[in-house]
Amino acid sequence: MTPSDVKATLSFSDGSPQMDLPLYKGTIGPDVIDIRKLYAQTGKFTYDPGFLSTASCNSTITYIDGDKGELLYRGYPIEQLATNCDYLETCYLLLYGELPSPSQKEEFVNRVTNHTMVNEQMQFFLRGFRRDAHPMAVMTGLVGALSAFYHDSTDINNPEHREIAAIRLIAKMPTLVAMAYKYTIGQPYIYPKNDLSYAGNFMRMMFATPCEEYKPNDVLVRAMDRIFTLHADHEQNASTSTVRLCGSSGTNPFAAIAAGVACLWGPAHGGANEACLNMLNDIQQMGGVAKIGEFIKQVKDKNSNVKLMGFGHRVYKNYDPRAKLMRETCHEVLNELGLHDDPLFKLAMELEKIALEDEYFVARKLYPNVDFYSGIVQRAIGIPVPLFTAIFALARTVGWIAQLNEMIGDPEYKIGRPRQLFVGATPRNVTPIAQR
Ligand code: SDX
Repeated sequence: MTPSDVKATLSFSDGSPQMDLPLYKGTIGPDVIDIRKLYAQTGKFTYDPGFLSTASCNSTITYIDGDKGELLYRGYPIEQLATNCDYLETCYLLLYGELPSPSQKEEFVNRVTNHTMVNEQMQFFLRGFRRDAHPMAVMTGLVGALSAFYHDSTDINNPEHREIAAIRLIAKMPTLVAMAYKYTIGQPYIYPKNDLSYAGNFMRMMFATPCEEYKPNDVLVRAMDRIFTLHADHEQNASTSTVRLCGSSGTNPFAAIAAGVACLWGPAHGGANEACLNMLNDIQQMGGVAKIGEFIKQVKDKNSNVKLMGFGHRVYKNYDPRAKLMRETCHEVLNELGLHDDPLFKLAMELEKIALEDEYFVARKLYPNVDFYSGIVQRAIGIPVPLFTAIFALARTVGWIAQLNEMIGDPEYKIGRPRQLFVGATPRNVTPIAQR
């Protein structure tokens, strides 16, 4: 990061000594004010719950311009990556900073392919769950449990351990998600097949049975691969910040990624695609397109606590570029499956049209985000709704790992330990219980 020749001067109206704060410039995006010495010099903290104005780190991985609706992975626009690359190429880019050459890609794909099986003991771990457990509860457990199997790669400060843990996590997430699914429907697990692509292998582990050959549909496989790419990373979102904070204690990579899975589950974050599809189903039950106006009225009523799921974003105050690409994929998949009259898709497009013209949403810069269409695509592909967020976690694993490794590789990193504004009780004495 480059020191700016602009300084910020902090002065206090009570005559406390003022302080110059250095500014730093990135390659693109907002400058930052370096407040690292603020507390030592003024005895004061900054206050920013939700971190609306706080940069927690410097990073070279993903850049988002919320006003322009731009998303870059290592400088490449998401539109170009989603069109010209597949998910494993994108994984290579996020992990190592450059797109792979053909031989580099082949070597990387082979490494991932040869780590797709999980330890057979994992099946017994799964048996501890109820069959109707939410897949994200299962995934939080399974990913955390990986650290029990890989003692040879749990030292986060060892670059070789970080490298093999990254490969293992990227390779095993599809296997674990498919196992979590098969467990809930009482079908046998399907082992990975090394001659299939990453997304094709996942589709087969999800939908094949031992009774007959499963031929993945190329259009659906490509759609699944694009869903993975669109969800791969997204700067310092809640789950990525969780992974960084968790990893900053020096815990092992599997535990840190499990923390990310747990955070992603929330409906305000990765759980939004499941919540969005449930919302569309509810509107459909209410009467479909004719009832959109009534639903929007509820959303505008603060007391209703109803949100338009799949809309709005902390950073994007324009259309989420991933939502545009997801809508394209939606069309492709529904056409391939002869579902272009899918009532939920029509409802979603009508809802989007109405919301984009409604002053309430326009004034608040609420646009569709990645989750608005991803649920419809996944439902069309045959993914059960409760599994949507587990697939988001599968795809985001590479982003979490890349961000975690970037932090650990930064000589300046310290354990994350924010402070607070204390507004609780001042010191007081305990009254013995006999007198309380
Ligand atoms: C993801 O951070 C990331 O990068 C996340 C993600 C990633 O790839 O990692 O992009 C993935 O999580 C996408 C977001 C998925 N979540 C949803 O679709 C859930 C619905 N969206 C909202 O919960 C909300 O938009 C957030 C949480 C996403 C963002 O909320 P902010 O930035 O904290 O904004 P806010 O809640 O302060 O809202 C500002 C205003 C408020 O109204 P006022 O109080 O100003 O009157 O907009 C309103 C909010 O009530 N608002 C909504 C709304 N989102 C915000 N009103 C109705 N429906 C919504 N969806």
